[in-house]
Amino acid sequence: MRSTLLALPFIGSALAARPFVNEPATGIEELFDSLPAGNLVPLNQIVALHDFDYAARKFLIPANYTYYRNGAGGEWSYRNNLEVFQRYRLRPRVMLDVTGVEATLPTTILGYNFSAPFFICPASRAANGNPTEVERGLVEGAAAGGILYNQAGYSDLSVEEVGEIAAKNNQTFFRQIYLTGNDTTDKTAFNRAKAAGAKAIIWTVDSAADGVRHRAARYSMGSANGGFSLQTWGEYKKYKTWTDLPIVLKGIQTVEDAQEAVANGADAIWLSNHGGRQVDGSPSSLEVALEIHQEAPEVFKQIEVYADGGVRYGSDVLKLLALGVRAVGLGRPFMYANVYGTEGVKHLIKLLKNEIINDAGNAGIADLHNISPRAINWNVNHWYS
Ligand SMILES: Cc1cc2nc3c(=O)[nH]c(=O)nc-3n(C[C@H](O)[C@H](O)[C@H](O)COP(=O)(O)O)c2cc1C
Repeated sequence: MRSTLLALPFIGSALAARPFVNEPATGIEELFDSLPAGNLVPLNQIVALHDFDYAARKFLIPANYTYYRNGAGGEWSYRNNLEVFQRYRLRPRVMLDVTGVEATLPTTILGYNFSAPFFICPASRAANGNPTEVERGLVEGAAAGGILYNQAGYSDLSVEEVGEIAAKNNQTFFRQIYLTGNDTTDKTAFNRAKAAGAKAIIWTVDSAADGVRHRAARYSMGSANGGFSLQTWGEYKKYKTWTDLPIVLKGIQTVEDAQEAVANGADAIWLSNHGGRQVDGSPSSLEVALEIHQEAPEVFKQIEVYADGGVRYGSDVLKLLALGVRAVGLGRPFMYANVYGTEGVKHLIKLLKNEIINDAGNAGIADLHNISPRAINWNVNHWYS
């Protein structure tokens, strides 16, 4: 009897174990689970960002879907990126006039105007999702939706091709690069980006070594970039002498490096663990933003701070903005949406804008540029920890 009673709390916590859910249910599976693989769920049935993941998994061959979906190691960081947002609840205020919140959606990033505080992250191999349009759907969808497009270094269109599309649409785009350590090659990459019309360089600094990616290895779908690369503040200073474009550092994961970035005159920083694809155990950008908020909040005033990883709902965006993040990136959702080409990308943008303004309204947030950190309860909700 005694041992049974002692075991009770443990039985309780075992029963409380919460399985990971890649896509919280939206009802899509009830309608389309019987749709044979290789078929596309009609776009008008996509009602949430997670639905694009479901639709892409059904439509793409496993190798191509896996390249997008995979994370490093045991994918704990990939899962944490998605789950972390539920660890912090909103503190909705009521009896406030939120009727003007939609007008506060537009923002600037490095001085350029955009229709919303979110953007498309650089992600290589768009052709895996859309062999015909490749990256065009992402570029043109971003133009139509008025948001920023960041072209990946390992992309399927050349920077000049993206520049041409962007010029036609009067569109601002940035160019991400990995640097090789060969000055001639790297200078050429900067010069080509500038000549093609990119307005900023995104230097990804979270990839000093290869990401260990088991799920992708199964399909021989490794990282597009490989090997060790030299990434130091000395290199950053050198690159700054090569171009007059702003150089944004993508992949900042600690308050110390955010402070170093300010001290080294970085143009902007981007909190990211590469979608959990580089090193398992790396923190989500929400955790990093919270660390900066608690230990060096001045950083958010000294420099523009962007963030990405696991953002799937309007309320996720609000939580990052509340800490002082200026704009938020999405990678996989756009790659999955690109399976539908431009129309899919436009649809995603519309869904997320709608979620942001409605979630803000219901949370008592009247102005997306002035969200109090008190709009969120930063005490951890342990059910999700
Ligand atoms: C398929 C795929 C390819 C990616 N390729 C790159 C890349 O070439 N350069 C880069 O800086 N980040 C790359 N990333 C990381 C994204 O820019 C971004 O940090 C990440 O996807 C955000 O997380 P999310 O997918 O949960 O939104 C890639 C991500 C994915 C999913």
